[in-house]
Amino acid sequence: MSVFPVVLSQSKFIHRDSVKYPLEERALQFGDGIYEVIRIYNGSFYLLDEHIDRLYRSAEAIKLTFSVSKTELKELLSELVVRNNLTEDGKIYMQITRGSAPRDHIFPKNVEPNFYAYVQALPRNLQNLKNGVSVITHPDERWQNCYIKSLNLLPNVLAKQTAFEQGCYEAILHRDGIVTECSSSNVYLVKDGKIYTHPTTRNILHGCVRMAIERFVADVGIQLVEEPFKIHDIQEADELFLSSSTSEITPIIMVDGQKIQDGKPGEITRKLQKAYEKDANILENLITNV
Ligand SMILES: Cc1ncc(COP(=O)(O)O)c(C=O)c1O
Repeated sequence: MSVFPVVLSQSKFIHRDSVKYPLEERALQFGDGIYEVIRIYNGSFYLLDEHIDRLYRSAEAIKLTFSVSKTELKELLSELVVRNNLTEDGKIYMQITRGSAPRDHIFPKNVEPNFYAYVQALPRNLQNLKNGVSVITHPDERWQNCYIKSLNLLPNVLAKQTAFEQGCYEAILHRDGIVTECSSSNVYLVKDGKIYTHPTTRNILHGCVRMAIERFVADVGIQLVEEPFKIHDIQEADELFLSSSTSEITPIIMVDGQKIQDGKPGEITRKLQKAYEKDANILENLITNV
């Protein structure tokens, strides 16, 4: 079942070999793949093992066989950073798909996964880290297996776009009023000295920065309660913050146009930001000096 030679691409009839994107690739046709985004500070990975372990868990969850071992993959990623002379702050994006094959929902036989990774410079967003961000609330319209870091991100994209169109940074997602996470980050509520966040069920992604926060709380002497909170708890919150590899630990100061307390980043959030800078060996300690 090969594709006939003349293909319609951007309203032009061209030969299938001239099309710039792959025609029959499972990530493009089905979102059939997984990915990771790994933070780099001063040319060194942060939370590399956590990301690699999660990648292989995602692969297993979608029954994708990837023949490169974890050790080999880590070596390849390190070499990629070196070959690009990346010595500043950046990130690696990598994805593995079920491969290129004639379109059929059923898994193709004897097809190698497509795997790529690239690096980009990514300075820390000091403005957001210092001052905090505004967010909206939005229904969580995703599937039931959000613990898999899959390429099916359309509901996340639509929620984040809605936030952007309202001048906001993120969308806090909820299922029937129960907060799960954000479109591309985990979310936490602070009340009476305790931090509340959704348990790591199938309904959220277990963030690598969240794993780090699970370590930090003991040092900072704060209890992390893995209990979901509700949308209507938000306005009573003492503090709110989100976490991800690209956003680090970012204070949330406004939700749906309503300030959280005095609209300034809270004390516990600041403590965690400082713990993050220490853990990631960030030399500038810009938050620490706020
Ligand atoms: C839906 C979702 N939740 C949480 C996170 C945070 O994960 P991490 O801390 O591993 O970056 C992400 C990151 O992209 C995400 O897409």
